Amino acid sequence: MSLPEKGRDIEDVLAEIGRLREGDLPVRGGRVTAYVYDTGRPEVHEAAARAYFEMLEVNTLDPTAFPSVVEMERQVVGAVAGLLGGGHGVFTSGGTESIMLAVKAARDSRPVAGRPRMAVPVTAHPAFHKAAHYLGVAVDAVPVDPVTFRASPAAVEAAITPDTVLVVASAPSYPQGVVDPVAEIAATAAARGVLCHVDACVGGWLLPWLREAGAHVPPFDMSVPGVTSLSCDLHKFGYAPKGASVVLFADPALRRAAYFASASWPGYTIINATVQSSKSAGPLGGAWATMQALGRDGYLELGRATLAAARRLREGVAAIDGLRVLGDPDSALVAFGPEDPDGPDVFVMADEARRRGWFLQPQLSYAGIPANLHITVTGVTLRGVDAMLEVIAECAAAARRRGPVELPEGLVELVAGLDLDALDDAAFAELAAAVGADLRGGSGQPEMAVVNAVLDALPADRREAVLVRFLSVLYS
Ligand SMILES: Cc1ncc(COP(=O)(O)O)c(C=O)c1O
Repeated sequence: MSLPEKGRDIEDVLAEIGRLREGDLPVRGGRVTAYVYDTGRPEVHEAAARAYFEMLEVNTLDPTAFPSVVEMERQVVGAVAGLLGGGHGVFTSGGTESIMLAVKAARDSRPVAGRPRMAVPVTAHPAFHKAAHYLGVAVDAVPVDPVTFRASPAAVEAAITPDTVLVVASAPSYPQGVVDPVAEIAATAAARGVLCHVDACVGGWLLPWLREAGAHVPPFDMSVPGVTSLSCDLHKFGYAPKGASVVLFADPALRRAAYFASASWPGYTIINATVQSSKSAGPLGGAWATMQALGRDGYLELGRATLAAARRLREGVAAIDGLRVLGDPDSALVAFGPEDPDGPDVFVMADEARRRGWFLQPQLSYAGIPANLHITVTGVTLRGVDAMLEVIAECAAAARRRGPVELPEGLVELVAGLDLDALDDAAFAELAAAVGADLRGGSGQPEMAVVNAVLDALPADRREAVLVRFLSVLYS
């Protein structure tokens, strides 16, 4: 963009935003099965948007200047603690920030002789790796059960060292939607004097409603002995606009270890509860209003619809020739893939779905878990679950007809051996284009099967290097 010489008419500006969004996936309607959480009740999202707008220009930087922020945050955090077994919380911008604060609190409240470490099941969200990377903590990856995909308490215990400051369990883990044995893992951690974080980012504001709607949900919250912190995203199953999560701590001292203050400069005093300093109170207002607009009965109703849709989806997928559901998901996240290696290629299926106006999220193979497709069932899904199943069946049939992605011979080896430091972004983009991957793609929904197949064939550290380069090309 070149900055316009003169300010433009707002209608014109908004029309341009509309044009820019033409290639985007739709955020409502249930055909996009990741990234967005739709209640199916537009009035709820509109209420949230109005409240967001109302709080938009309030800066949470100084809570004494804007007491509305303190009151709203107390109420939102209080509601989360009320549902999830208590605790003392912070409202954050999302799961990653909540996890970052939990890791910081663990690191700072439990000094160890060596480099602080944490035991993280391989199915836990990469936010833990990011927090570890930013905070100088080492990660000890813990294998999960290859059939149930749940973390094993014994494997977690084996990973604890004298320098371990935190152990992680997920409720549920995102990839297969299963809840780790939180009670056992937390007890193991407590016995070794180590803190235990439950990542309930995706499940915290869902599992209690599913339980009330009749699902079997094992204990996972702050009431479980040994659990010392928990993250719960409101911008997921709380259906709040993005930028809303809560991290709970078992006691105020641990929460204080997440805070940051600085008086080491000649400017205004800095007291931050979060990573961000200046930030809009819009997301807080949006989350507060969503909770008010839905209320207990609204969330329970959404929980019932979600449970019914998730059950229907699991049964329906299992009944499609050649497909199987991975594990026995406890929540509303369903991962599925081919029953045997000759079955439909999931990356081709994902592209086929995009052509039909649906987004199914591909997940790469990792730690012995095969590549698969992931669906997040939300409140709106039930209305379209039969159509979703039809599309999945069609895509599986189409993927069988097309066969698996055939990569040019030597391509994976070429990418694996590339000296990325010797390539600038333009050369990388040209190389990708030569094998049919248009990284600067422009508008519209891209075909990703080749890219996913190449990534899938690489080890994780190469994937990461290529992904960083991809992002750099995208924004250059
Ligand atoms: C289990 C889990 N933890 C953490 C996160 C990270 O959340 P965010 O994208 O809000 O940072 C996610 C996101 O999907 C998640 O599913």
